[in-house]
Amino acid sequence: MKNIITIGASSSKSSINKILAEYTGGLLNNVNLIKVDLNAFEMSLFSVDIENERGFSKATIALNAVFEKADGCIVSLAEHIGAYTAAFKNSYDWLSRMDGKVWRNKPMLLLSTSPGARGGQSVMELALSRFPYSGGKIVGSMTFPSFYDNFKNGEIVNSDLKINLLDHLNNFEKAI
Ligand SMILES: Cc1cc2nc3c(=O)[nH]c(=O)nc-3n(C[C@H](O)[C@H](O)[C@H](O)COP(=O)(O)O)c2cc1C
Repeated sequence: MKNIITIGASSSKSSINKILAEYTGGLLNNVNLIKVDLNAFEMSLFSVDIENERGFSKATIALNAVFEKADGCIVSLAEHIGAYTAAFKNSYDWLSRMDGKVWRNKPMLLLSTSPGARGGQSVMELALSRFPYSGGKIVGSMTFPSFYDNFKNGEIVNSDLKINLLDHLNNFEKAI
């Protein structure tokens, strides 16, 4: 059975991106879903000095091991001031020091959502241009706008968005 990791790229306990990534992963059949919560892998703020003095933390080694065993990933990006959240960027920095190909060239479905109408489009553009250099094999991407209007009681209530997501998920399923 394929190991698929879901990540909400946020440290918010009530992360809407974590909800969207896990919801999307839950639509897949016959996979082993590994739900990554960045709060379970808390790392010090990256610095080359800490790296030189202390090496990699247990959390970094553990998260790297999760990425190592993934056959594919569903990542949903939270947007803070048009960019990655500090928590995600920090994990990304640390992981990149263990293996520059953070995403291991495994198929990735890349999502983003926010309460606003752009659905995290700026952070999406950032990741679309950057992740491929870190081994990101993006087989589909979708911004999900106005999360609280379009996702209610654990379900997508906007049928166009649901169809679009299922379409991307179908392509992802074929790629893994
Ligand atoms: C510091 C900060 C900056 C934010 N900047 C943006 C932004 O640039 N664009 C946006 O759409 N939403 C922005 N938001 C709102 C987030 O999209 C919203 O908090 C969302 O819930 C974050 O995703 P999460 O729940 O997965 O953490 C910002 C929120 C915070 C706290």
